[in-house]
Amino acid sequence: MELIIRKTTQDAVKLVATIITDAVIEKPNITLGLATGGTMEKLYDKIALMHKEEKIDFSLVKSFNLDEYIGLEPTDKNSYRFYMNHHLFDKINIDKRNTHIPSGVNEDTLEEGEIYEALIEEAGGLDIQLLGIGLTGHIGFNEPLSSFASRTRAKTLAPTTLAQNGPYFGSAEKTPKRAMTMGVGTILDAGMVIMLATGASKADIIAKTVEGPITPMISASALHFHPNCIIVCDEAAAEKLQNKDYYNSIFETDPKWEPYRNI
Ligand code: GLP
Repeated sequence: MELIIRKTTQDAVKLVATIITDAVIEKPNITLGLATGGTMEKLYDKIALMHKEEKIDFSLVKSFNLDEYIGLEPTDKNSYRFYMNHHLFDKINIDKRNTHIPSGVNEDTLEEGEIYEALIEEAGGLDIQLLGIGLTGHIGFNEPLSSFASRTRAKTLAPTTLAQNGPYFGSAEKTPKRAMTMGVGTILDAGMVIMLATGASKADIIAKTVEGPITPMISASALHFHPNCIIVCDEAAAEKLQNKDYYNSIFETDPKWEPYRNI
């Protein structure tokens, strides 16, 4: 795991956007695993701007989103399909037929999980998986106790998550109680994982994820098992890390970060 700390949210977002667009330039038919949430809105704005200004071409890119609320139609404005179209897909030249999000309306959730896993496999696996982090430490909607071997399936959302995402639905009570989500095992199979965490509200969970014990109570801690994982934070989200100087020295010293140091 590598931990990259940037001064501002904007700097952290710009770094992740550059890593992703560089990967798209290098492999035009890349398969990206995508995430949702407030943090990603800024990232998708930046990627859309880079598409426009730097002519980054997404026409051959395939994508798989992490998760979807169970019970929401793709047309529902709180669905993650609606979110992705609105924040990213409608602003870049991706072919929507190559964009995938688990169905929230297939009542057979076991079948839906199998279909989604088969689609990922058919696409040759995920080259890069982008992640945010929930206050429970969830990645996707892998709430506490998710098996590190789990694959795409239905999960019940934790009370902390219902409260965190409640404002989008009017209240925690109105928030769907279950979601389809890629499993921790699905995420760990990606070629590279990039987590973006910004803001002071993420400082506690980032410190636990990075420097605390590996535990299924914090799904993100499973990322220590991934051989190519980077976590990009702004200073606010990195505030409670004990070893910031060490992480900064790696970024300053490792030649592979050279092109990204001034971003
Ligand atoms: C939702 C998504 C997660 C995401 C989280 C973070 O719960 N299912 O994948 O990490 O939101 O949200 P935010 O960026 O708004 O803090």
